[in-house]
Amino acid sequence: MNRKWHQLILSLGCLLLIIICNSCQSTITTSPNTGTKPFKVATDPTFIPFESQNASGQLEGFDIDLMNAIAKISGLPIQFQNLPFDGMISTLQAKRVDAAISGITITPERLKTIAFSRPYFKAGLAITVRANNQNIQDFNSLKGKKIGVQIGSTGATFAKTIPNAKISTFNSGPEFFQDLINGNVDAVISDAFATLYAIKNGNLKGIKVVANLLTEEYYGIATPKDSPYLEVINKAITNLLSNGTYQQIYQKWFNTTPPKLPESSI
Ligand code: ARG
Repeated sequence: MNRKWHQLILSLGCLLLIIICNSCQSTITTSPNTGTKPFKVATDPTFIPFESQNASGQLEGFDIDLMNAIAKISGLPIQFQNLPFDGMISTLQAKRVDAAISGITITPERLKTIAFSRPYFKAGLAITVRANNQNIQDFNSLKGKKIGVQIGSTGATFAKTIPNAKISTFNSGPEFFQDLINGNVDAVISDAFATLYAIKNGNLKGIKVVANLLTEEYYGIATPKDSPYLEVINKAITNLLSNGTYQQIYQKWFNTTPPKLPESSI
């Protein structure tokens, strides 16, 4: 009788050990995205055609399609959260969101406080002027002019390098273009692709983009500095680039084939 009890206790003990070991293993091997906790992705939907809200309030755009494709391929349970562009970096730093996709340019300055995925879009800054303007053609002709930029953007940083420029800052794209159309500023410095798209689609009228780009920039998905998800996101982008999905999304929004992307831009 006693022996039987002994055996029973022993085998129960073994069973318990096996269960504990198994659960240990699964915590070690599981990727960081398990559980039902949403993976919060910040976006500033004032940047057609990368992120905007349609009439029924739904998010749409190149970045939205790309992020949804990343979610699908990686299993990340993403949940978008609208956030003004200016607060994006500090919100990431404070880890109030898990990532941000918002046409965010990868810059050495930003890399000091947050991390970026591999580049997912080749972009660049351009000068936009009123359609009848003939004298602003390049960087030199911007000297001493009134210039509109979005707060916290690479366009704003660039504008600071123009001698004697009078800079007006705005919260979002639509506002500074309105000021340009109204004649309150002489030029706007902002992301060329977004502006060209808006002009082509009739969202912006009476303005033109000056042909030569001022900079070459790359967009990346931003995360807090030590994010365990960066690896997952990078793998997903690489897969989407090689399986044709990236090309499909690019074609849908820009009606052309995408340029080759480097693995790293800095
Ligand atoms: N590429 C620029 C930057 O990183 C501007 C991006 C603006 N994006 C937006 N969703 N408003 O500074």
